[in-house]
Amino acid sequence: MSQLFEPNRALSKQARIKNMCEYKELCIQADEDFEGYWDKLAREKIEWFKPYDRVLNEDNAPFYKWFEGGKLNVTHQCLGRHLNSRKNKAAIIWEGEDGTRRIITYLQLFYRVNRLANLLRNKFGIQKGDRVVLYMPMIPEAAFAMLACAKIGAIHSVVFGGFSADALRDRIQDAQAKLVITADGAFRRGKPYMLKPVVDEALREGCECCEKVLIVQRNFEDIEYVRGRDYVYNEIVMQESKYCEPEWMDAEDPLFLLYTSGSTGKPKGVQHSSAGYILWAQYTMEHVFDVKENDTFWCTADVGWITGHTYIVYGPLAMGATTIMYEGVPTFPDVGRWWSMIDEHRVNQFYTAPTAIRLLHKEGADAPSKYDLSSLKVLGTVGEPINPDAWMWYYEQIGGGKCPIVDTWWQTETGGHMITPLPGATPIKPGSATFPLPGIKAEIIDENGNPTPKGEKGFLCITKPWPSMIRNIWGDSDRFVKSYFGDCKKDGKPVYFSGDGAMYDDDGYIVITGRTDDVINVSGHRIGTAEIEAVLGHHENVAEVAVVGRPDPIKGEGIFAYIVIKGTDSISEEVYMIQELNKLIVKEIGNIAKLDAIRFVPGLPKTRSGKIMRRILRSIAKKEPITQDISTLEDPSIVEKIQNLVQF
Ligand code: WT7
Repeated sequence: MSQLFEPNRALSKQARIKNMCEYKELCIQADEDFEGYWDKLAREKIEWFKPYDRVLNEDNAPFYKWFEGGKLNVTHQCLGRHLNSRKNKAAIIWEGEDGTRRIITYLQLFYRVNRLANLLRNKFGIQKGDRVVLYMPMIPEAAFAMLACAKIGAIHSVVFGGFSADALRDRIQDAQAKLVITADGAFRRGKPYMLKPVVDEALREGCECCEKVLIVQRNFEDIEYVRGRDYVYNEIVMQESKYCEPEWMDAEDPLFLLYTSGSTGKPKGVQHSSAGYILWAQYTMEHVFDVKENDTFWCTADVGWITGHTYIVYGPLAMGATTIMYEGVPTFPDVGRWWSMIDEHRVNQFYTAPTAIRLLHKEGADAPSKYDLSSLKVLGTVGEPINPDAWMWYYEQIGGGKCPIVDTWWQTETGGHMITPLPGATPIKPGSATFPLPGIKAEIIDENGNPTPKGEKGFLCITKPWPSMIRNIWGDSDRFVKSYFGDCKKDGKPVYFSGDGAMYDDDGYIVITGRTDDVINVSGHRIGTAEIEAVLGHHENVAEVAVVGRPDPIKGEGIFAYIVIKGTDSISEEVYMIQELNKLIVKEIGNIAKLDAIRFVPGLPKTRSGKIMRRILRSIAKKEPITQDISTLEDPSIVEKIQNLVQF
């Protein structure tokens, strides 16, 4: 059992939830009167245009409906309602990698969003329910664009700027987007990089749905324009009025889609709702980070991921906080960049991924000592398990031993935090996300739906619906039901299965043990091994391929590919193949899926029915002894052959 760290007493006294008794009391309230608990929150937190008639409708489970009949607009929640008391408060503080700064107040943000919303409506004919793809760098206009869509009821789908043209095209097609909003590019590692050419490439074929492209100029590099299709935001947006009537949205109307990887097939468009999503974004901001009126909150994610959606844009703005947005990499001009920004902006809550902590620890263990980090009150992590080493460095060197670390477990599908410490209440320990938030019924169960005993791995399920849950997979309801409600049952009823394994430790703390499916977690990003295999299979010299994750000291997991090749057998050709295969990956997915290791093998371990035994391949990649029974394999001798090849 690892060490427990009690909450900082000074912080607890001021916190919204001050101790474990208060936490448990809320859990009991939610247990005793589930709908009443959520009803109270939804009334208190959301400024409704029209109140809802019903808290939860389970008639068509798992297509749950929350706050039916209620009308709202998420931008009123994030902007409009703050104008009385916060119009001159900084909503977004943006820092470019080159040191440029922009501070955008709530009133300014309101106007910006309105002008862009008008542009979308008037110039591009975007209507409620239309899909708009955003392929944006980390600039304030990314937030403007998300909110402008929300204002007029369009459904945004942000595609991370690291994805390739092919990946972008897949998403534009799947969403049938009418418009793409992008930028010329931005700056990374001191140099301009480009996005617009990637959009051109994506739209080259098969995207008839997408009629127009709106381009924000950020790095002012030369780009090509397609006449009649491409428009420059900077030139036309100011012609629009700064006032815009918000669309009255149903509580259940989709706010956005965000594509994420599954264990099979193409990435799926996770569909989120308006009311339930914004309620939970706001509530978790307030309670998990305990942000106060004058605080400055910084989440280092990219807006292309759910963390950026909920904790850079929607959550902080819904509660009227000040959110920091940073354009570049953490190591430019040096490894002290983030710490200098915390110092400069007096950041109070800082939220990042373990992979970044490990990198900055390794590359610059002493860098934090050069800065004044005393403004920090709460630290957070997300995306993958954090190892005790990195945790201790974060706790001591960044938090000065006084800031609780909230290790938040959640997913693209959950919309916001599910399992996490509360900074003023929960005694924390390195490597544990601790307990579910009040109202969230997270349970670790076995295949029969029974809770697993302490120390034993089980399936991490959420056994009751929650307001910010995924509503559907865009265009594929069957896949939605199968992916999330097909594997686990409790009391005979299908329940949401996260895809993660977990266990209770001796103290009943929840420890996430990682994915149980064929999804790997590279630097906190989810990648389906099936997607990578499909790409590699496109190479003419690849006969068979299997991809697994292998532990990596910085990235958490690295991508390890076993490949059976045809038509080539010399070593020099293998070196060439490695380059070829990575080119293919970069083209069809993007840099984030680059292979860390490739081994050319004579065959793959398969059962007699032809199923590849990935567990064996995972063990070999880790150089672990094989514990599985290999006698049932079609060719048991293949295991040793592969092992010998991997040892070098
Ligand atoms: C997967 C979700 C949630 C935003 C970022 C990733 C893993 C997430 C933790 C944590 C251990 C974690 C899980 C999960 N994960 N948070 N605190 N400890 N693992 O979102 O891309 O949807 O990935 O990330 O495996 O299923 P995502």
